[in-house]
Amino acid sequence: MKKVFVKSYGCQMNAYDAERMADALAPEGFGETTAMDEADLIILNTCHIREKAAEKVYSELGRVRALKRERERDGRATTVVVAGCVAQAEGQEIIRRAPVVDVVVGPQSYHRLPELLHRAEARRGVVNTEFPVEDKFGHLPAASPAKTRSRGVSAFLTVQEGCDKFCTFCVVPYTRGAEASRLVVRIVEEAKRLADAGVREITLIGQNVNAYHGEGPDGTTWSLGRLLHRLAEIPGLARLRYTTSHPRDMDDALIAAHRDLPALMPYLHLPVQAGSDRILAAMNRRHTADTYRRIIDKVRAACPDIALSSDFIVGFPGETDADFLDTMSLIEDVRFASAFSFKYSPRPGTPAAELEDQVPEETKAERLARLQKRLEAHRQAFNRGTVGRTVDVLLEKPGRHPGQLAGKSPYLQAVHLQAEGLSVGDVVPVRITGAGTNSLSGEIERMTAPASAAA
Ligand code: 5AD
Ligand code: SF4
Repeated sequence: MKKVFVKSYGCQMNAYDAERMADALAPEGFGETTAMDEADLIILNTCHIREKAAEKVYSELGRVRALKRERERDGRATTVVVAGCVAQAEGQEIIRRAPVVDVVVGPQSYHRLPELLHRAEARRGVVNTEFPVEDKFGHLPAASPAKTRSRGVSAFLTVQEGCDKFCTFCVVPYTRGAEASRLVVRIVEEAKRLADAGVREITLIGQNVNAYHGEGPDGTTWSLGRLLHRLAEIPGLARLRYTTSHPRDMDDALIAAHRDLPALMPYLHLPVQAGSDRILAAMNRRHTADTYRRIIDKVRAACPDIALSSDFIVGFPGETDADFLDTMSLIEDVRFASAFSFKYSPRPGTPAAELEDQVPEETKAERLARLQKRLEAHRQAFNRGTVGRTVDVLLEKPGRHPGQLAGKSPYLQAVHLQAEGLSVGDVVPVRITGAGTNSLSGEIERMTAPASAAA
């Protein structure tokens, strides 16, 4: 059997795509390997969101080149594919910079991988960065139940791709293209297949997931809120999540779903990026700091214990100390349970990269450190706040010690516990006894009725 090694960078969408690429290659006789030096086919599924992420692919390709040579000396051929958003953004340029690459394929055409690989046998340097009209997901073979289950009890499911928001710092509208939603029937089919294979939790993913507006079986357009209601009916599925959302698309139906659907976990990742209205306008975010605060108030009114998470960019062109302090005060008001924060990175082809008043690197670094210190304090405070409470934990994998399992709380915190007699996939009530830096510890709350696998 031939072997394929897929390395994925960046977001969850890429992680999902990496699995779909492996699925597309299974009927071609490829089995997956986690050892790059065993692989006949190496796929780097790349990320273009910030410069650092994009440059990683070229250093990795240096290592791939050495490996390919070594394997050649042993008489073994290696095919090298660059997929994902760097592939989309740079196309042919990748082969010019790294001639070791055989195929460059964008995120919208990887369902054509088998055909592209055949073409690469005849001619080196095949590039496909089209945005084909057909639904790529409709052209991908499904993974077997055993394969699906081996990937874990928590799975991603893409419901929406692309973005029409055009935030001025962001490459996504260019690399992933226009916003498009999958049909409800296709999503329900895929979710049922996952549940039948033993998956207990599904995270719906999309670059702008709450902009979802797919056609329902009744011919009308469904919102994400309605889709979540439908998915919550699928037997076996205990938990639903979704990411990443835009404040503008946080509609009442979705907020109500957080109140009404027990399967929808009390967790919301809602990037705000900055707390200054001037900067938000320059970013073309189409919301102010106060509209963001009001959305958070509404969400908390619907679901008081919800854990909030966000993304931040510091040092966007023109950001002054006063602007930065507005971001600092927003985080004190909201108190996020977790967050991702980045220094602004100018991306070729985006409007903000052309702005004149770029912020010096030292200022960015200093602001990022200050922001992260407070965000981390809030995260730790949130984690400490769960100590003493009993929360449901989805058991996901073996823990650090014998007899231990590790799982996730509703708030996406990692929890370790002694779990004799329990299995991966069970959802159990756990009393949280301690909070470490990156995970919680807890004990099974023994109740009179058996609690395992309660959906
Ligand atoms: N520079 C820094 N961070 C960025 N992000 C997107 N584009 C850039 C950029 N040019 C961040 C945003 C987004 C997250 C996925 O990455 O915070 O929400
Ligand atoms: Fe990028 Fe803005 Fe679209 Fe998010 S909403 S993917 S940050 S353009």
